[in-house]
Amino acid sequence: MKGVIARYRKFLPITDETPIVSLQEGDTPLLRAYNLEKKFNFPFQLYLKYEGTNPTGSFKDRGMTVAISKAVEKKAKFVICASTGNTSASASAYAVRAGLISLVVIPEGAIALGKLSQALLHGARVVAVKGNFDDALKIVRQICEKFPVELVNSINPNRIEGQKTAAFEIIDALGRAPDYHAMPVGNAGNITAYWKGFKEYSVVRPVLLGFQAEGAAPIVKGKPIKNPQTIATAIKIGNPASWKKAEAARDESGGVIDTVTDEEILISYKAIAQCEGLFVEPASAATVAGLIKYTKKGFFKDATKETIVTGTLTGHGLKDPDRAIAESQKPPVAEPTLEDVVEKLKI
Ligand code: F0G
Repeated sequence: MKGVIARYRKFLPITDETPIVSLQEGDTPLLRAYNLEKKFNFPFQLYLKYEGTNPTGSFKDRGMTVAISKAVEKKAKFVICASTGNTSASASAYAVRAGLISLVVIPEGAIALGKLSQALLHGARVVAVKGNFDDALKIVRQICEKFPVELVNSINPNRIEGQKTAAFEIIDALGRAPDYHAMPVGNAGNITAYWKGFKEYSVVRPVLLGFQAEGAAPIVKGKPIKNPQTIATAIKIGNPASWKKAEAARDESGGVIDTVTDEEILISYKAIAQCEGLFVEPASAATVAGLIKYTKKGFFKDATKETIVTGTLTGHGLKDPDRAIAESQKPPVAEPTLEDVVEKLKI
């Protein structure tokens, strides 16, 4: 069965009256990362959930199929979101499919090129505010109080319902829950969703390890960050909407939410691409960066090769091509001759 509603309907708030809006999201790869295990001396088995293969290139599609289906059921005409990019790409695509108008508010100049191009081409009404994501979300919430528009940020519980299916898929693929699960934390909806999913699907649950970027780590620092900074624009968030729920997920699972630096994120970003052939966006690399940090710290000292750690790679690398180019060598230009090309290829 294709699409998360078709596969996991009985776990979702779907009734006979709900029109299903799907782009056949979900069913993403869970890949053993042998080369990363070796490179970073991980004392455990690492499996990566590659969410970049979702229709719009991120995990947001799992939540959006449910949120947009429910919006259509409610006879909504407009959907709205604030976004660091991926939510807007997903909302815009699913809105088109459902015949809804998508309204998007983004922080000016802080959205990766791929994501902006998606929302624009899908015909969303996009406004860039001179502020950050938190400012955009505040305005969007105010709009929802005044106008008949459906909010599709992860404050909408239907988003969380859909996103929890990633945890189901991990358990289905492994035949059991992992021992640990690592993931990035931004607005904190996804860690909330994974914990809900793990709880609903298994009595044995993983310890959750959430990672925020050092310059955008309000949960770790225990206070909102006025001017969050990180190259991982997807998680450049200073006041997460699901803050309390993320803390509950962390505490109930016996886990941690901690920081990784931009430098650590970039090391992982390149390693994931160069060891495993997986092209992810920088925010996704926070997952592996956190596992490297925690391995070095001795956090996994009791782990064995039977220990299973899973990690979410939340979004596709093509979302942020500027970052990939910035982190790479410019290709040398050759004369159109066999000799020069061979020389430059260093064969
Ligand atoms: N990774 C990526 C690629 C994301 O786009 C996001 C969030 C996260 C991780 C963090 O997930 O917010 O549930 O804790 N992106 C949102 C957006 C904020 O607007 O696209 P979270």
